[in-house]
Amino acid sequence: MKRLLVATGGGDCPGLNAVIRAVVHRASQEKDWEVLGSIQAFNGILWEPTEVVVLDNKKVAGIHFQGGTIIETTNKGGPFAWPIKDKNGNWTTVDRSDEMIRKLQIMHIDGVINIGGDGSQRISQKLYEKGLNIIGVPKTIDNDLSSTDSTFGFQTAVQIATEAVDKLVTTAASHNRVFILEVMGREAGWIALNTAVAGGAEVCLIPEIPYDINKVKDALEKRFHYDRGFAVVVIAEGAHAKNRKVVTKKNDEIGYENKRLGGIARQLIYQLKEAGFKQDMRETVLGHLQRGGIPTAYDRVLSAQFGIKAFDMALHGEWGKMVAYQHPNFVAVPLKDTIAKPNLVSPDNALVRTTKGLGISLGK
Ligand code: F6P
Repeated sequence: MKRLLVATGGGDCPGLNAVIRAVVHRASQEKDWEVLGSIQAFNGILWEPTEVVVLDNKKVAGIHFQGGTIIETTNKGGPFAWPIKDKNGNWTTVDRSDEMIRKLQIMHIDGVINIGGDGSQRISQKLYEKGLNIIGVPKTIDNDLSSTDSTFGFQTAVQIATEAVDKLVTTAASHNRVFILEVMGREAGWIALNTAVAGGAEVCLIPEIPYDINKVKDALEKRFHYDRGFAVVVIAEGAHAKNRKVVTKKNDEIGYENKRLGGIARQLIYQLKEAGFKQDMRETVLGHLQRGGIPTAYDRVLSAQFGIKAFDMALHGEWGKMVAYQHPNFVAVPLKDTIAKPNLVSPDNALVRTTKGLGISLGK
């Protein structure tokens, strides 16, 4: 009997369940393979008592269109930075990776499929370097993992954000207002750029291209004739004006090590007012609506392909690698390559050229 452990780590993302289901369905076609799921990323292994579930075809029936993850997730802590209180009562972290690997040996786990974004794949690589048989699957709505044409969940986020633009356009036009839609993406502008093109926005501001507030103001003013007009701006949460910092939020959640982004849409309104822009403006922060709910058909298909390939890699002992989509193929790439640098929008990207060609201002 071979035992495969599946874990989902980091922020949830549409398509996680579709990947899990694909792994389990594929495993059930092989003799003597059992699939277990660790609850809340690797917490299920590190907790006492252990929390794992058996994943069989019955357990994963009909989950391909469900948002979230049936085995839960977390973006706090992990085997290398487990939060504990020190003797003075202050929170600190300890490395429990060796203990976790030992536990996996005792549980007769032959390999792990770790479905997650860059943070999770960094953990995968470190565990692999310690001798654990591990395979990564690229999850994130941000699409910021390199080596793969796309991550799953991204397309759903763009669809949700585009539907938001479609709604905002009608209210913007009715009230002669500027609507500023803030979307997620961390340091990557992929969600914003795709949404702006799909939704027909007038301005799109992304982290990779710091904006000039006067250029943004000029682009918006062109949309108002005799004070009548409207416009939609799509801004990525990580965008910022030249010479200004990314807007972050304070976060005191124990074990949360990421920078929490958000609030740039409101800042943009202040900056535009300061620059002399006179029209009415409103902001909408889409937030976690981009991550919840059902995956698009595209993401379900992509997730299924990732899941099948991940199991095939386990079957053939291709450890230390991540499944990647490199059109038209699904390939195994070394984990260390995927985490070496993030996938950001380069200024000469074809989509940037399309954005400019459509007359969408990038504030430059
Ligand atoms: O990485 C995915 C993502 O949704 C980012 O786009 C966003 O900045 C972050 O996670 C939000 O994380 P949390 O769920 O911890 O608020």
